[in-house]
Amino acid sequence: MAMSANIMNASQQPLLRAQGLNIEIAGRHVLEQIDLDLMRGEIVTIVGPNGSGKSTLLRALIGAIEPTSGHVRQASGLRIGYVPQRLHIDPTLPLTVRRFFNLPGRHSRQAIDDALARAGIEGRGETPMTGLSGGQFQRALMARALLDNPDVLMLDEASQGLDQTGTADFYRQIEEVRNTVGCAVLMVSHDLHVVMRAADRVICLNHHICCQGLPEAVSAAPEYRALFGSVDEEALALFRHDPHHHPHGGHEHHGAEFHQTEHDDAQ
Ligand SMILES: Nc1ncnc2c1ncn2[C@@H]1O[C@H](COP(=O)(O)OP(=O)(O)OP(=O)(O)O)[C@@H](O)[C@H]1O
Ligand SMILES: [Mg+2]
Repeated sequence: MAMSANIMNASQQPLLRAQGLNIEIAGRHVLEQIDLDLMRGEIVTIVGPNGSGKSTLLRALIGAIEPTSGHVRQASGLRIGYVPQRLHIDPTLPLTVRRFFNLPGRHSRQAIDDALARAGIEGRGETPMTGLSGGQFQRALMARALLDNPDVLMLDEASQGLDQTGTADFYRQIEEVRNTVGCAVLMVSHDLHVVMRAADRVICLNHHICCQGLPEAVSAAPEYRALFGSVDEEALALFRHDPHHHPHGGHEHHGAEFHQTEHDDAQ
């Protein structure tokens, strides 16, 4: 029995591992010496300025881009649901959510309905894609990525175009998906202050990994502050409160509510 390909299948082994990953495109270093492990069930958020290599990193991790040097290992049989940064649907196309989900491969009615429910847009199968609101559209993309029960859900700026409440709502949904489906989540986000708290671990990327660790530690790190400034407490309050209740000022929250895990310490 061939064991070597399965060495990453034990529960404490990463689902995905990048080691010494370098990517050069047109003679420019887009990614330098990236080491990254993604463990089962964790939510990892990648933040970084425009052009810092975030999308390139996701594409390298799913195997769509060949590294210049270093390597990416996936646990054997790993299923990844990937939501790309840009997806344009021709607005004149009469495409329902259900038909969109059946492109290219067909899925059972039940599987589609379950995925829609998990993404928080139950019963939307017959709605035209172009008839969805921005938030519903992003949820539909997430539902589609959940169809094959992925081990890893990857989202590249999936909350783009949503307002702060919509974003907070969307990230709660992601957390719920992680809890019910049990998949790991690796996402790229620009909604720094809101989203950081939804993650177990944050990776700050600027071609190389500037810093990483628990959200609190990363937001306090000088490398992070040099890129993004300090944390917007009001946006954080919005995330922590029930999105259906509007926050009344920013003084109800305390650091003790933060969701902490025992992953890497910040460096
Ligand atoms: N196929 C390509 N051809 C040429 N340059 C590329 C290609 N893909 C990426 N790049 C370059 O690599 C750099 C990183 O791009 P990438 O899309 O990964 O950044 P990003 O962090 O996702 O940015 P954004 O926040 O704007 O989405 C950019 O300078 C980009 O122009
Ligand atoms: Mg990008």
